[in-house]
Amino acid sequence: MSHDLFEAAVAAMAKAHAPYSRFPVGAAIRTVDGRIHSGANIENASYPEGWCAETTALAHFVMAGGGEIAEIAVVAERMARITPCGGCRQRLAEFAAADTRLHLCDDTGIVETTTLGALLPLGFRGDGLK
Ligand code: THU
Repeated sequence: MSHDLFEAAVAAMAKAHAPYSRFPVGAAIRTVDGRIHSGANIENASYPEGWCAETTALAHFVMAGGGEIAEIAVVAERMARITPCGGCRQRLAEFAAADTRLHLCDDTGIVETTTLGALLPLGFRGDGLK
């Protein structure tokens, strides 16, 4: 991964609205054509109404027209190697492939690179719903 995807995730993390958890998270998605879509977690005084950084990044990805996802970076300044929550793994799997690279970062860069399939084995697929 070139450093710009990590930097986009860090820049997004700086925009987090996380006054309740004080746990800012940033995520960045790169499409195969090189575009980057990023997002931060956005919390709410009614706690369950908040959402994750990956979800914001996916919203930007969809609203920009979508595309094929090449790689994803996630960073949290208060965690050495953040892994996406279960719900975000499912949301990411809607648009990315099992072999899509997922970079787990700390505030200096990548700590580990894995794949979405490794993090969500046997995830629910909507193929039969269409
Ligand atoms: N959070 C994310 O943004 N992404 C994750 O994958 C895990 C958790 C956020 C949600 C909440 O705002 C804060 O981190 C603490 O759970």
